[in-house]
Amino acid sequence: MRQMLRPPTVAPWFVAVKFVGMVLAVVLASALLPPAVHAQPAQRVERERLSLDAGWLFHRGDVPAPPVRGHGASYHQAKAGGAVGAGGAEFDDSGWRRLDLPHDWAIENAFDPEENASQGYRARGIGWYRRYLQLPASDRGRHIELQFDGIATHSTVWVNGIVVNRNWSGYNGRAIDITPFLRYGDDVNNIAVRVDADAQEGWWYEGAGIYRHVWLVKRDPLHIATDGLYANPVLRDGRWTLPVEVQVDNTGETGREAIVALRVTGPDGALVAQGDTRVRVAALASATARLTLQVPRPQLWSPTSPRLYRVQAVLRQPGAGPTRDIDSTELRTGFRTTRFDAERGFFLNGEPLKLHGVCIHQDHAGVGVAVPTALWEFRLRRLQEMGVNAVRFAHNAVAPEVMDLADQLGLLVMNENRNFNSSPDTMAQLEWLVRRDRHRPSVILWSIFNEEPLQGTEQGREMARRMVAAIKRLDPSRPVTAGMHDGLFAERNAGEVLDVVGINYQVYAYDRYHREHPRRPLVSSEDTSAYMTRGAWRSDRAAQVLASDDNEPSSWGQTHRAAWRNIADRSFIAGSFVWSGFDYHGEPTPFQWPSASTFFGALDLCGFPKAAFYIRQAQWVRDRTVVKVLPHWNWTGSEGQPVKVMVATNAPRVRLLLNGQPVAEQAADRDGIVSVDLPYAPGRIEAVALQGERELARDVVETSGAPARLVLTPVFGPGRTALAGDGRDAVPVTVSAVDAQGRPVPTANLRVRFEATGAGRLIGAGNGDPNSHEPSKAPERSLFNGLAQAILQTERGGQGPLRLRATADGLTSAEIVMDVRAAALPAVPAAEAISRVGGWRISPAQAARPDPNQVLAENDMNSWGWGEPPIRQAAEPQAWRAYRTSLRLRADRNDGRGHLLFREIAGQAEVWVDGIKIGEKTSAAPGPLRVPLAQGPGWRTMTVLVRAAPGEPSGLTGRVSIERGAAGPSP
Ligand code: GAL
Repeated sequence: MRQMLRPPTVAPWFVAVKFVGMVLAVVLASALLPPAVHAQPAQRVERERLSLDAGWLFHRGDVPAPPVRGHGASYHQAKAGGAVGAGGAEFDDSGWRRLDLPHDWAIENAFDPEENASQGYRARGIGWYRRYLQLPASDRGRHIELQFDGIATHSTVWVNGIVVNRNWSGYNGRAIDITPFLRYGDDVNNIAVRVDADAQEGWWYEGAGIYRHVWLVKRDPLHIATDGLYANPVLRDGRWTLPVEVQVDNTGETGREAIVALRVTGPDGALVAQGDTRVRVAALASATARLTLQVPRPQLWSPTSPRLYRVQAVLRQPGAGPTRDIDSTELRTGFRTTRFDAERGFFLNGEPLKLHGVCIHQDHAGVGVAVPTALWEFRLRRLQEMGVNAVRFAHNAVAPEVMDLADQLGLLVMNENRNFNSSPDTMAQLEWLVRRDRHRPSVILWSIFNEEPLQGTEQGREMARRMVAAIKRLDPSRPVTAGMHDGLFAERNAGEVLDVVGINYQVYAYDRYHREHPRRPLVSSEDTSAYMTRGAWRSDRAAQVLASDDNEPSSWGQTHRAAWRNIADRSFIAGSFVWSGFDYHGEPTPFQWPSASTFFGALDLCGFPKAAFYIRQAQWVRDRTVVKVLPHWNWTGSEGQPVKVMVATNAPRVRLLLNGQPVAEQAADRDGIVSVDLPYAPGRIEAVALQGERELARDVVETSGAPARLVLTPVFGPGRTALAGDGRDAVPVTVSAVDAQGRPVPTANLRVRFEATGAGRLIGAGNGDPNSHEPSKAPERSLFNGLAQAILQTERGGQGPLRLRATADGLTSAEIVMDVRAAALPAVPAAEAISRVGGWRISPAQAARPDPNQVLAENDMNSWGWGEPPIRQAAEPQAWRAYRTSLRLRADRNDGRGHLLFREIAGQAEVWVDGIKIGEKTSAAPGPLRVPLAQGPGWRTMTVLVRAAPGEPSGLTGRVSIERGAAGPSP
């Protein structure tokens, strides 16, 4: 839908005049408040962090603002609050779609061969979001911040028609002080966001829209700044300390002093340290309180025991009386040491630890980049199951909740900035990232770029030098790296200013670089890039299917086995970051259409393991026996012909049994693989992992019959059985088919229909097939090589059973029932739009009744005044004034049933619209006036003549709005 603002039927200044009053509204409204409301925010304590995810209106496509012509319109659009078009406060969004965030509109789009392969052949484009909210009068005087965790890709944000933020990256969050722009009480505020996802920052699927959470944070004017609490443990001379910094901002009118009190509690909740200090902050200034706490013998954080300490900071008002808490916040940190050694690689807590890392992007089947936290937890746990201890979030900052999970689950993180650029905008993105994450035990490396063509040049070195310095200013404790794929040996190159040099793919460079720079630690920031289609064992290039027996490396990468060998054999390489952990949408290398997602993952788009998952387990898992037989054993038509059977194991030997008979026994090779060609005979293959003659574990695959029954398996995190009815909690459900004997059918590709009822809904489905063009958002999906995934999310306020039923033609259906427990997320409810009539011009007082159709010159900005109701004129000797504005009628008010509602007019009044008198208030006493509005033009000129009673104040002393329906609420 394309929604243009129609040009007005009146002089152009009427078009924009309505927008200009927004700032004045705040000023005037404040001026009229009784002093009590204006006083200090009194006894209200603590911050509120409220979700703003629910109740947005969305329009796909751009909404071009009407062209600005003429002096009046130009004058007005240049003013604070003068936004024209969909950024404006009073824009007609009545036809827009209502939805909740996070939202990725690209994943809703059909695949289209004309679109960009890198972005997954889905249109991105431009979209708009709008949202209304009310703030209680008691919020007046608080500091109110609007926080976006991430919007793809370029975005502009308006509040009440005032542009408040422009951001040119899809990966950074931002906190915007919107206090000055807000209205309180029964008034309504508008937030508008224009998102330009034609802009690209990557060569992978980036999604489109407000795809991370949005928050409204209310605090005292004296408050702890966003990301202003910093605590990062230090071990020196065998003693641990916890230096803490608290940045305190003051947006109040006077300088204030506060006590900053800190409490540190250990993993068991017991208090381990506390302290306080004082800080004085001038009005509209910042100050940082610093305190170093002693934490004797802390329990260390590590991937195997990720113990977190909680640091709470409370701002307290000093004084003679009882102290009161003004603000508080907290973070989780961990005690651990890290070190990159040029000879021996990475050390955690003094022990060498080879990095078993993967690079991952941030999207998932069915949901695109709008990934619920529970699904992230599922993804990260899957990686840990694979033996992963480190993740490189490629090539951008991830959502804060993902970093929280990394801390909690014990993953080591290479934290990467998106844009290699040392100009102010990009430096601000980098600094935002460091400030957000520098307390996290998971973060072991900052990465400033990936494969930048300027890496081997003087310019690249200069840019890197500045970026490294910016990081060090904020976090001197962590090394900085970058993924270099060339330029390593150039005379001037970025690697010279890095603490740890990251090498992407260039295996030849490992030894040479180490030899030439024996003091510079190295990590394989990216390697492997081998292709696999999950469940496929034979490549069929014509069908764009690639075998998963680890024999399909890219031309620049290596097989999973070879890539790891090169790293495992070199102690000076800290470890590996495999490209990639999961498949992702886009970058369908080595193919193009119809392939729409990548083949690089060790797990597919749904997180179902490919063979690489088990190969990596064999390489990396040491705390339990791994034995996995590959592939499946359904080779009807290949009877008697050799089928390659591969066993991935970390055991020394494997015995293979076919239908109970030993057919092979071999030592696993150094990659943890036993590979044997067996003539196919239906039945059962067993792999027995052996140490000497002792059986450590076994794995079985069996030939199945035809699919007979569907199976649904929800995958909950450990210890969880119920879901939270907060509208956010989610669960991936594995969909599979079994035969009449209950054996999985790994070749089933049949279509399954879903029906979710009760306290949740289906938010997406996938099957991991890179060539599938089935929609992500439909209530059906085909199994791909035996599997599909349905992702369910609870309803906001949901409680009780959540049912998922799956049906397929000719199969017994499946149903699961999950328990949804009431859980409230503190949130700002969405308000309905108020069609406020603002932007009034006000004639001087005069003795005679003014002509309601009197022309005010378009370029005359001064002979009439300006105002925004409530407008109260003190008693004056001349009784008459004219008030003029332009009316913009939203479609839902321009149906002949809408009416103008003056909440209060002091004095007698006549209401004129487009030269016709349409209403009258005969009593001079302050009171409301309701005037029906006939259907007609969307833009009209309105003049209200007000005549004051002698010696009485007069004016539009209450809000003026256009109301819906025949009988609106009584004023
Ligand atoms: C690398 C790049 C990754 C991905 C990968 C595929 O060069 O850093 O983002 O494109 O290649 O092999």
